[in-house]
Amino acid sequence: MKKKLAALGFLLVSLVLSGMAVAASIVGSSHDLTGTGVSASVCVFCHTPHNASTTNLTTPLWNRVDTTSTFQMYDSPTFDMSPGAGSQPAGVSLACLSCHDGSLSVDQLLNQPADFVANADTVGGLGTDLRNDHPISFGYNVGLDPAFEPAGTVVASGLPLFGTAGDQVECGTCHNVHDPAIGKFLRISNTASAMCVACHIK
Ligand code: HEC
Ligand code: HEC
Ligand code: HEC
Ligand code: HEC
Repeated sequence: MKKKLAALGFLLVSLVLSGMAVAASIVGSSHDLTGTGVSASVCVFCHTPHNASTTNLTTPLWNRVDTTSTFQMYDSPTFDMSPGAGSQPAGVSLACLSCHDGSLSVDQLLNQPADFVANADTVGGLGTDLRNDHPISFGYNVGLDPAFEPAGTVVASGLPLFGTAGDQVECGTCHNVHDPAIGKFLRISNTASAMCVACHIK
């Protein structure tokens, strides 16, 4: 019996190590901001059950102040699905950028919890110049460029598209803020560029 259990344990460990998608918790990850001392509640840094954002309704029960930064968006002569000049990040991407453009401190919450303590620390990451980052906040439209998998295939591979029409590529398409299992909060493994080719036919 003991031997069988040990064998089972080995099998489970091997499955995990072989890179199967096993969900992990945000608790203790770099998206667990309780260490800032602002609050002991992990979720409250981003969500609140009441008095949530009405300016960012794409991100569920969002509890952060919107960034007012002006961003420089990705563009190139071959970017066919470009949302056009003057576009800005939207929805879920704007939510990420409420920390990752470095302009708002971690304590900029709409609905402060009872144990709230101010902390002026900022996060950083991408800044406001997004010309050197993969494009975001545009509609995934294979009709404009045939070198892409159909939207349905992309979503089925574990990469969600956002927005009211369910077609927007956002930060949350490639990243899951809640799950550090794969590393860099990636939704699916990018070993051997697997994530890139889930969309790009290259
Ligand atoms: C660092 C910010 C952040 C923290 C902390 C966070 N979330 Fe989220 N959450 C988001 C963002 C951004 C989205 C929208 C993008 C998405 O769906 O992945 C989201 C979406 C969700 C959703 C809807 C989509 C889904 O995945 O089911 C639920 C439910 C949710 N969060 C629950 C939680 C709970 C519960 C906690 C605390 C244990 C938590 N979140 C902590 C940022 C955060
Ligand atoms: C409440 C603030 C906050 C929000 C909102 C937030 N993050 Fe983060 N994020 C952090 C902090 C803090 C770190 C760790 C420290 C650092 O990288 O500066 C981090 C780190 C990361 C990392 C690097 C993880 C690693 O293992 O190196 C990724 C990727 C990331 N965030 C993506 C996102 C995405 C995508 C969103 C939106 C869907 C998002 N974050 C929203 C605060 C936030
Ligand atoms: C097309 C997929 C894709 C999109 C869209 C995307 N990322 Fe990433 N991101 C990645 C991959 C892959 C990595 C890990 C490889 C790397 O570090 O370059 C990464 C890494 C990161 C890191 C960690 C960088 C480091 O040096 O450790 C942060 C922070 C991050 N992304 C935030 C964001 C935010 C915020 C957005 C939206 C503005 C976003 N990402 C949009 C794929 C994406
Ligand atoms: C969710 C689907 C998706 C994923 C995942 C993804 N991309 Fe993209 N990527 C796109 C779309 C859609 C465009 C816009 C293409 C266009 O309109 O020409 C794009 C644009 C680009 C461009 C700019 C193309 C141009 O003409 O300017 C490059 C380069 C690129 N992606 C590389 C990558 C790499 C490398 C990865 C993996 C780290 C990756 N992408 C992951 C969907 C994706």
